[in-house]
Amino acid sequence: MPTDRDYQWYEASVMDAPDDMRQFRRIFSDYFSFAPRLYREDFCGTFSHAVEWVKYHPENRAWALDLSSEPLAYGLKTHASSLTDEQRKRLKICQQNVMKPIPSKVDIVTAMNFSYSFFKEREVLKDYFRQAYKALKAKGLFLIDVTGGSQSGEPNEEKRRVSMGKGEKSLTYFWEQKSFDPITSEASFAIHFQVAGSARKLRNRFTYEWRLWTIRELREIMAEVGFQRTDVYWEGFNRQGGGNGVFKRRERVENCAVWIAYLAAAKY
Ligand SMILES: C[S@@+](CC[C@H](N)C(=O)[O-])C[C@H]1O[C@@H](n2cnc3c(N)ncnc32)[C@H](O)[C@@H]1O
Repeated sequence: MPTDRDYQWYEASVMDAPDDMRQFRRIFSDYFSFAPRLYREDFCGTFSHAVEWVKYHPENRAWALDLSSEPLAYGLKTHASSLTDEQRKRLKICQQNVMKPIPSKVDIVTAMNFSYSFFKEREVLKDYFRQAYKALKAKGLFLIDVTGGSQSGEPNEEKRRVSMGKGEKSLTYFWEQKSFDPITSEASFAIHFQVAGSARKLRNRFTYEWRLWTIRELREIMAEVGFQRTDVYWEGFNRQGGGNGVFKRRERVENCAVWIAYLAAAKY
């Protein structure tokens, strides 16, 4: 079971909530001329997006949904405690299944870090997308991220150095794809960490059993549940061939070893 330290390392390695928020607002503005105020963070884990949301504007409200008490407890200890009482009142933490509705309709729903991939059956994923559609007001945006690439068809491992700030040792973050089954499209993933100067690799701190959905499948299901328009936001490249953090709408691209994209589904 992940510890507080694992959540801290996970967030330092894979999360950039302020940058994600900028991407969410920019993509939202491609569809709607009003500012989104009501936000639902599905599969929220430590709910760092929802915390950024309520900090950003005094009228912003957020609902953060996750099944598991452990990441929620870490979020309450670390992020929620950084909020003022007034900001905290605008944030609702819900330990619940994303399949269950919340009492309010929102402007934007996000499901980040590929978490919808837990749903392996088409009908189940479709049910979830239907819930996301219903959770939105008459006009709203559902935003997910997607990953893939030629490398995702076989076992592989990527690693990255992560600095942990003043007084703390940096670490190496490992993202391992352990398997891929071309018949079921199911894949196993794990996150490992290694602290600088230590010979020990802390293995399998987080593990995931996912189905790797294609963008085309996801768009088709989104259309089937009622979303009027879907768009792929594809990341550009830097000089070294890595992602440059700039996501633009694309309808056709060339595959590469590893890619991450946003998929936006608009209701209007
Ligand atoms: C990959 S983590 C993502 C956490 C966070 N969104 C992030 O970006 O780092 C997936 C999270 O989804 C939660 N989860 C899995 N199935 C769920 C469900 N049906 N309803 C709500 N949460 C779920 C898990 O408890 C876990 O915290």
